[in-house]
Amino acid sequence: MDTDSYIHSLLVANPLRKSTLRKVIETLQLPPGSRGLDAGCGIGLQCLLLAEAVGIAGHVTGLDVSKEFLNRGEAIVEEAGLSERISFKKGDVGNIPFDNKTFDWAWSADCVGYGPLEPLPLLRELARVVKPGGIVAISGWSSENLLPGYPRLEARLKATSGGIAPFVHGKNPEMHFLRALSWFREIGIKEPDAKVFANSFHAPLSREIRSALVDLFNMRWPDAELELSFDDLSEFRRLCQPDSPSFILNISDYYAFFTYTLFWGKNDK
Ligand SMILES: C[S@@+](CC[C@H](N)C(=O)[O-])C[C@H]1O[C@@H](n2cnc3c(N)ncnc32)[C@H](O)[C@@H]1O
Repeated sequence: MDTDSYIHSLLVANPLRKSTLRKVIETLQLPPGSRGLDAGCGIGLQCLLLAEAVGIAGHVTGLDVSKEFLNRGEAIVEEAGLSERISFKKGDVGNIPFDNKTFDWAWSADCVGYGPLEPLPLLRELARVVKPGGIVAISGWSSENLLPGYPRLEARLKATSGGIAPFVHGKNPEMHFLRALSWFREIGIKEPDAKVFANSFHAPLSREIRSALVDLFNMRWPDAELELSFDDLSEFRRLCQPDSPSFILNISDYYAFFTYTLFWGKNDK
C-alpha cells in the first residue's frame, strides 16, 4: 500500500477505533502530567488520546519510521491545538533515538508485537527508554466478526494467508501477538496483564462507520481472490463488494464487532 493510501486508511478507520482505543488508554491510568512515548505512532491519532489522558501538564512523543506519516501527524496535532503537548521524532522502534529512562511510560498500537517485526527486541527497546516503575503497553486489533450469518465464509477468509489477524503466515506461534505475556515476563516487566476491549456496530450505520467498514473489507482479506474456492469467491464478491445488490452492509440487521487486546506491565529496571 502506498503512503497516501495508508494515511487515508488510518483516517477512515479512526471512527471505528477511536472510542475503543480511548478506553484501552484509560485502563492504563497514565499519571496526569507524565511524559510518554507512542512507538509506531503513524499519523499520531493515538498521540491525541494519550495527550488527553495525561492532561495539560503532560507530554507525548510520537515515534515513527515514516517522515510522511509524521508530517501528517504534525498537521493533525496543530489543527487540534496540541503542538505544545505532542511532538514527533523520526526513528526506528528497534533502535529508539532516546536515552535510557527518558519516559514515564511507553505505548504502541498495532506496531510492536504486531505484523512481521520480531517483538522481543522492540519490547526491550520500549522498556529501555521507560523509567523504573513506568508502564510499558502494547495493544493490537485481535479479532473481528464482520459477516453476520456467514461464519463459514468468514472463517475461510480468516484462514487465507493475509487474513490471519493478528498473525503473519508462517510465523513462530510464540511470536503471535496473543502470546505477549511471555515476552513481558522474558524481558523482566513486572505484573504483566492482558485485557480485551470489544466494540460493535449495527444498522443503521453512520456514514463514517460505513466508510470505515467498506475500507476494512477492501484491505482485510488481501488474498481472497487467490486463495478462496470458486464458490466462496462468488459469495465473497456478492456480500463484500459495495456495488453488489447483496452488499452485506445494506442488510437491515447488519451487526459487527471487533476486539482490541492490551498487554501491559511495569518496568522493573
Ligand atoms: C498499523 S500502523 C499503526 C499506526 C498507529 N499506531 C495507529 O494505530 O494508528 C503501524 C505503524 O508502525 C510504523 N512502524 C513500522 N515499523 C516501525 C519501526 N521499526 N519503527 C517505527 N515505526 C514503525 C509504521 O510506519 C506505521 O505508522
